[in-house]
Amino acid sequence: MKSLYRIKTANITSFGTRGRSIITLKASVSFNNLRLCDAVSMKRPVASISCAKCAIISASEAEERFIVNKIRFGKRISALRRSKGLSQADLAQSLGVTPQAVSKWECGNAVPDLDLLLELSHMYRVSINEMLEDRDLLFELTGQKTDSDNIAYFVPKQERGYNVAWVREIRSGGWIKRNWESAQSENPAMDEVGKNIASCNGIILEIGAGPGGGFMPYVLKANPDATIIISDLSPAIVSEWKKFLDKALGSPNLYYAAFDFCRMPFKDNCIDIISDGGGIGNCEGDKAEALKEAYRVLKPGGRLITSTGFVSRETLASLPKSTQRVLLEKRPDVFEDLYEDTVLAGFGKIDSVISGSWQTDSDDSAIADLARSLGVNLKFTGYIRYCTKT
Ligand SMILES: C[S@@+](CC[C@H](N)C(=O)[O-])C[C@H]1O[C@@H](n2cnc3c(N)ncnc32)[C@H](O)[C@@H]1O
Repeated sequence: MKSLYRIKTANITSFGTRGRSIITLKASVSFNNLRLCDAVSMKRPVASISCAKCAIISASEAEERFIVNKIRFGKRISALRRSKGLSQADLAQSLGVTPQAVSKWECGNAVPDLDLLLELSHMYRVSINEMLEDRDLLFELTGQKTDSDNIAYFVPKQERGYNVAWVREIRSGGWIKRNWESAQSENPAMDEVGKNIASCNGIILEIGAGPGGGFMPYVLKANPDATIIISDLSPAIVSEWKKFLDKALGSPNLYYAAFDFCRMPFKDNCIDIISDGGGIGNCEGDKAEALKEAYRVLKPGGRLITSTGFVSRETLASLPKSTQRVLLEKRPDVFEDLYEDTVLAGFGKIDSVISGSWQTDSDDSAIADLARSLGVNLKFTGYIRYCTKT
């Protein structure tokens, strides 16, 4: 009930019979001798209220919002315990309870008594509220609430026309599961990046996650409790990742959003790491804008870790003139390594590491199709770039 008391003013303008609709107010206002929070708990139809900051929600949503979700609470305290390197038995011993009691809390079958909660709060250095309440991180960072499916949409929910067939393939081919599983096998280069990103212990934003998830699977391999916002322009891809990871990990620290990374919905200086495994390289939009946006939303000292590839100017110069013309007209971005744009975006420290190469002959991207239609095989040089907002 506590979050009903946050806003100071609200004007009740009319009574209504909105069926099961109720109004959550963040102020303790009253009408008809009935406080609105009482109305919430009694599921009574109440007035419509004019207040920019009020939200009308259904009674069942309100119940969910004000009741401790024991499953998610359990996952949070389990993550906190693991982050301290404690086993359930260790924790049980230091609290003077049985390991079964700890297991019950972590499975969502029970909540510790108040005195034990207080002890946990001191032990983990987090408030009791932080342990008990579901955090709406996306609301904190963007000012927009997530939808009822727990995804924040900053683009229309409906898939863009040109993506429909691709998304269908991703679903029917089980790409997300396949890519996740393949990331579980050893891959020293990607594993190292994953560990590097995970070590920040802050807010990680995976942009253009795509069906491969970019670096996110490797970050979660290094730390399954990492806090990551998983995002893409395609709402279906975000939703597929959510469905998959809810089952595979059930982490309380994963958040989901659909937005265009050339116009990020985040406030300035709020993200610790932007992780981009090939999103900006395959950008629908202006890559320079995407880099500027990344700079804006990162905290000072925050890093953009981005990987993509480019075809060298020497390779371009070796092609027939007519082929060069078509390639430059249709895909000029393929010949840019984005270094200048990264400097122009503001990044003060930029380190690039060549990560390998690939050829369009063995690729099924749009540029590979174009290269094939022109009868050429283009060699891409791949790199990972570490860009710091100094
Ligand atoms: C082809 S994928 C490759 C990289 C991807 N990280 C992966 O591992 O599969 C590129 C992804 O970037 C997304 N994307 C392209 N432009 C975007 C934009 N402007 N904003 C957000 N996502 C974008 C696409 O929807 C796509 O899912």
